[in-house]
Amino acid sequence: MHPDGERILLSEETIRARVAELGAEISRDYAGKELLAVSILKGAAIFLADLVRCITVPAFFDFVAISSYGSSAKSSGAVRILKDLDCNIGGRHVLIVEDIVDSGLTLNYLADSLNFRDPASLRICTLLDKPSRREVPVNIHYNGFVIPDEFVVGYGLDYNERYRNLPYIMTLRPQIYEEA
Ligand code: IMP
Repeated sequence: MHPDGERILLSEETIRARVAELGAEISRDYAGKELLAVSILKGAAIFLADLVRCITVPAFFDFVAISSYGSSAKSSGAVRILKDLDCNIGGRHVLIVEDIVDSGLTLNYLADSLNFRDPASLRICTLLDKPSRREVPVNIHYNGFVIPDEFVVGYGLDYNERYRNLPYIMTLRPQIYEEA
């Protein structure tokens, strides 16, 4: 394990097996359709890359970048789109692919904003779900793992942009936050 880690929450093998299950489930549900996976930069990029390779229906993908308006405004749910989609989603089957749902504010905002553009369908797939921290409801269709209220890094998730490239998901030693 990385020396900054406290313990491995999800091993590389555990993640790979669950991503394959999610891909199979999504492939069954979207049989006969084309899928547009919309992913949020940067954290979900690694999950998206693995997930789309487990999907057997034609799958396109696109990215958005989102930022929240500072910590005080965050509770209002105000988030800003820094990079919008390149493509038109009207009439398409859109699947939002996210790394983790925490308060739910980011996804709640993104789902609302995409719904305005009249997709044929809109569903949400997240690798991780921290339901104990939810502030607004989020309708998750595909959920990789429900995890406790702990800050985790790896497999796309970062702390100050670090640890995204770890192939597993781990918690951090408390000293790492204290040094920051
Ligand atoms: P929400 O709007 O509170 O649901 O925020 C979700 C975003 O917060 C995720 O896309 C992550 O970027 C970030 N986040 C939440 N929990 C964690 C964590 O445990 N590790 C790393 N990033 C996290």
